[in-house]
Amino acid sequence: MKMKKILLVIFVLATVSVSAQKFQDLAMTPPMGWNSWNKFQCNVSEILIKEAADEMVSTGMRDAGYQYIVIDDCWQIKRDSMGFIVADPERFPSGIKALADYVHSKGLKFGIYSCAGTKTCAGRPGGRGHEFQDAYMYAKWGVDYLKYDWCSSDGQNQKESYRLMSQMLKEAGHPIVFSICEWGGSKPWEWASEVGHLWRTTGDIANCFDCEQKHSGYSNWGVTRILDMQIDMRQYAGPGHWNDPDMLQIGNGGMTVNEDRAHFSMWCMLAAPLMAGNDLKNMSPQTHNILTNIDAIDINQDAKGIQGFKFKSEDGLEIWLKPLSAGDWAVCFLNRSVDIKTIDFDWIKNKMNDEFSKRILDASVETFKIKDVWTKKELGDTQKPLNADVLSHDVLLLRLSLVKK
Ligand code: GLA
Repeated sequence: MKMKKILLVIFVLATVSVSAQKFQDLAMTPPMGWNSWNKFQCNVSEILIKEAADEMVSTGMRDAGYQYIVIDDCWQIKRDSMGFIVADPERFPSGIKALADYVHSKGLKFGIYSCAGTKTCAGRPGGRGHEFQDAYMYAKWGVDYLKYDWCSSDGQNQKESYRLMSQMLKEAGHPIVFSICEWGGSKPWEWASEVGHLWRTTGDIANCFDCEQKHSGYSNWGVTRILDMQIDMRQYAGPGHWNDPDMLQIGNGGMTVNEDRAHFSMWCMLAAPLMAGNDLKNMSPQTHNILTNIDAIDINQDAKGIQGFKFKSEDGLEIWLKPLSAGDWAVCFLNRSVDIKTIDFDWIKNKMNDEFSKRILDASVETFKIKDVWTKKELGDTQKPLNADVLSHDVLLLRLSLVKK
């Protein structure tokens, strides 16, 4: 009898640690995918989600690395008499399981949204008090990604609420990426690396380059405003746990092509999750070109998972650096001003030290080949100073590849 009990305990412990392990290894590079919210808000349906999955494949986005198709708010309408969550039958007549199966059949992963509070931000039923029931349903449906919001959470504590859901997801046993969305209020970067795979660092992104949209009690933020809020957080990001400066607004019409390009480049430099938020069916060639730039994506997805940092800022021109694998670096000149900036940058004279990663970009000791990530041109090497113009609200994004001696 005793032996049986011991074996049972060993079995339970082994199962829990296997599922915790499954959970931990899910986002070793920043998650990439598409989410319905930025473009469609509550206007979601199974047709829209299926089309997004189809487009993800036909546009080559899946092959470029985008994996998750996530339905944000408004797919859910009520709870049944047993407390189980019910999808809107008019918009999702085939049910969520069939939709997840469809997304999976396209070689993609399927994600969903809920909220730690009693109601979602759009007023649909939230997860509070139904955590295990929901986690169980998600596992049954084959949900691979959960974004968990923070509306209607009066009296709740972020750490406790997200820990509880994380635990329930692990117990439900299906590997699932857990995206924490409490907008940075409790500094999740300080506590959430064991709880989830990514955490929002700010309020919602606005569809603009440099603006603040004030609402009563909160603001939405443009790209550069969010960028400025990411400083001093890079030590918390790494394989399996990422700072999330919110989803992409590329292709949503609020920014110029230059600004969209700068937005994508900076999210790549930040090792941010890359969740496209546009209408994939009606995507312009420029938007497609930005979202599928494989050299930019390689910078974002670099296996070292080191978040980039601002090395220098002068007169509206910023220089950002991101250490990459195999001794390489990404260097991004970001022009935030309204004027064209002319760069004359001497690599040899500018030794760039990154104390966090303990790496030094020292062109007097090592030589790097330079590639322009957007024009795809080879720009020589770091033995010569770099001369280039950067348009207003645009970037010069470079990959420096170490020349082996
Ligand atoms: C919050 C989140 C957004 C989105 C909406 C949905 O504002 O931060 O990303 O999920 O809720 O209602």
